[in-house]
Amino acid sequence: MAFKPAKWPRKLRSTEWFGGTSRDHIYHRSWMKNQGLPDDLFDGRPVIGICNTWSQLTPCNAHLRDLAERVKHGIYEAGGFPVEFPVFSTGESTLRPTAMMFRNLASMDVEEAIRGTPLDGVVLLVGCDKTTPSLLMGAASVDIPSIVVTGGPMLNGWFQGERVGSGTHLWKFSEAVKAGEMTQEEFLEAEAAMSRSPGSCNTMGTASTMASMAEALGMALSGNAAIPAVDSRRRVIAHLSGRRIVQMVKDDLKPSDILTREAFENAIRTNGAIGGSTNAVIHLLAIAGRVGIDLSLDDWDKAGRDIPTIVNLMPSGKYLMEEFFYAGGLPVVIKRLGEAGMLNKDAITVSGETMWDQVKDVKNWNEDVILPAEKALTSQGGIAVLKGNLAPNGAVLKPSAASPHLMQHKGRAVVFEDIDDYKAKINDDALDIDETCVMVLKNCGPKGYPGMSEVGNMGLPPKVLKKGITDMVRISDARMSGTAYGTVVLHTSPEAAAGGPLAVVKNGDMIELDVPNRKIHLDISEEELSARLADWKPSHHVPDSGYARLFHDHVQGADTGADFDFLKGCRGSAVPKDSH
Ligand code: FES
Repeated sequence: MAFKPAKWPRKLRSTEWFGGTSRDHIYHRSWMKNQGLPDDLFDGRPVIGICNTWSQLTPCNAHLRDLAERVKHGIYEAGGFPVEFPVFSTGESTLRPTAMMFRNLASMDVEEAIRGTPLDGVVLLVGCDKTTPSLLMGAASVDIPSIVVTGGPMLNGWFQGERVGSGTHLWKFSEAVKAGEMTQEEFLEAEAAMSRSPGSCNTMGTASTMASMAEALGMALSGNAAIPAVDSRRRVIAHLSGRRIVQMVKDDLKPSDILTREAFENAIRTNGAIGGSTNAVIHLLAIAGRVGIDLSLDDWDKAGRDIPTIVNLMPSGKYLMEEFFYAGGLPVVIKRLGEAGMLNKDAITVSGETMWDQVKDVKNWNEDVILPAEKALTSQGGIAVLKGNLAPNGAVLKPSAASPHLMQHKGRAVVFEDIDDYKAKINDDALDIDETCVMVLKNCGPKGYPGMSEVGNMGLPPKVLKKGITDMVRISDARMSGTAYGTVVLHTSPEAAAGGPLAVVKNGDMIELDVPNRKIHLDISEEELSARLADWKPSHHVPDSGYARLFHDHVQGADTGADFDFLKGCRGSAVPKDSH
């Protein structure tokens, strides 16, 4: 149904704080005025919050203060009143045990910060992996007009004359050192070459994927995802987003108007076309849960199954986000989906236009970066959702990052009970393993790690790497970095720490992976599996107290987005009890 803008002028949410002459109104305005704000900023104009995930501990977002200033220019120009505030910033490369453990906490921070303050609309300033979904989740639960501005990717890395992709080459170089193909000195030299400008990972990793998801959902201005962090046009889109949010408030265009089932289908298909991260599965399921859209793991397989991966970017392909931007960026990909009948064209976006209207006239400037369908990296991009007795609630695999010869494979299980067990054994030449085996890692899911670490693409044993083998089938309840690759089965649900069948796999069991038939099977009898499950006792560490305990007790399975049970749904913007 077409969106109908609200009438303007009308009384806004912020007038509850600022729009009167009572003692409380004076109290709210007076304290704000200690910042040197003129009277007319409190005259009923839209008050726009800028949720800033700037932090020096989130290096990918360390340039967002500058971008916030650009957003403010736009807000002032359009007649709004900008107020910038910090929210919990989840830095992927620094935060332990894993940034994922704090995604839900950050979303709570954002939700409560928006609801408890005099805001009529928000600009979500994000970049690094978890910052994008956490702010979208929080804003969706409050449901006031919201627009995403990402910080943009880093410029291309270069080392020894070749492109170096964030993350992707960290794994590659690390394995090359283990295989004796690269020296440790060279690896150290590559360190600075990988990250040579402000911005988020320059591969189609999770940050670029989530920036693309925000755009494909309609929550960011068209073209936002790919503009490099240091390109002057990144500042322009921040400026324009500032202008736009003011009009969104006047129109009352909210996340619930944009985040429809059709929008999620568009995002899922886009993820297939860009060869996006498996992490998008968890985050989109969680965002959908906040707006009450009944999105399931099966929707990922159904909607994304026949989407060719046409974006030739690492980790699946050869280029980086900088080249994607020069080629035309995400609007070209979305247009291609539309031409192929794979786009819900009428989905409304933050611009007020439909998705189709804003992409229909764009051009592809480089067909080696955004490929024609007949040259797609894989005709079945998307995310393969596997089911079977090993994953009754599902597991995922990214076909575009996997090896074709392993897509149907049966092998002997080599089991690691947790990540410490893996680290203790993997470099031991006495480990009974070869390239035909299936590596199984337990207790790395949401409860088990805790936080669901990105260790699913566990490195291969050196003795296999030295043979020139670069891929083996790996299965776990963990996640995988969006910059990683391999025939890796992830998010196995229920997870081992929750008593899923993964918990009872033993060394020597045979496991069958059959991606074309979406099957993952532990080759033991039903009776044997039931007997093992009846004997199973949790072996993971349960945190005694604090946030880790809250997380452990309330996090849901990866198959439904790993949100907290008590955070699902949209709670709206009404303050439950006004203290004044
Ligand atoms: Fe922050 Fe990749 S580590 S975007």
